[in-house]
Amino acid sequence: MKAKLIFITGNRGKFLEAQKLLKEFGIELEQVDLDITEPQADSLEEVVRKCAEEALKIVKENFIIDDSGLFIRSLNGFPGVYSSYVYKTIGYKGILKLLSDLTDRSAYFMTALAYGEPRGELKIFSGRVDGIITTEARGENGFGFDPIFKPLGSNLTFAEMSIEEKNKFSHRAKALRAFASWFMSKEKNLEQK
Ligand code: IMP
Repeated sequence: MKAKLIFITGNRGKFLEAQKLLKEFGIELEQVDLDITEPQADSLEEVVRKCAEEALKIVKENFIIDDSGLFIRSLNGFPGVYSSYVYKTIGYKGILKLLSDLTDRSAYFMTALAYGEPRGELKIFSGRVDGIITTEARGENGFGFDPIFKPLGSNLTFAEMSIEEKNKFSHRAKALRAFASWFMSKEKNLEQK
């Protein structure tokens, strides 16, 4: 059984991670970059739901869309839902500076992933990975805060990993797996009807 979906994102890194992972489930992915302005909201779920509702007005295919954030414990969860703005303004170097005098460097990444059907449902999945913020940037792969985030259970930062390795740990991969299992069993049920 083969399924086809679009991933609404301007971020090629996110797309490549999702494409690789969903291929294992027999789901083919195409990237579509729509100009959807990210609304400000208190949680990633709310942000992604609003983005998905906007996308439903425009697209005709079934789609996924992702909103992610980095939550740092000693900064009370900052940058969290402001991760995109913080990355654009102070970048990961700014985060390293903010943490320079702090001993607790624990943090987590979270993804809220929405799946939408133009004539059907809108469903949200989430994934989280715990880890630490390193004291210096390491690695060239990936994007965003990858060079300064080391997940628990690995000595490598996300930026030192291949896409396959990052997918063993990442917030996005967890949300995508939860989505893919649900989606494939739904497709199977439809086929049997
Ligand atoms: P977005 O709003 O989901 O695009 O992400 C918010 C910010 O977090 C952006 O600056 C992204 O580059 C960053 N980000 C999202 N996912 C990841 C990731 O998997 N690794 C590193 N940074 C990420």
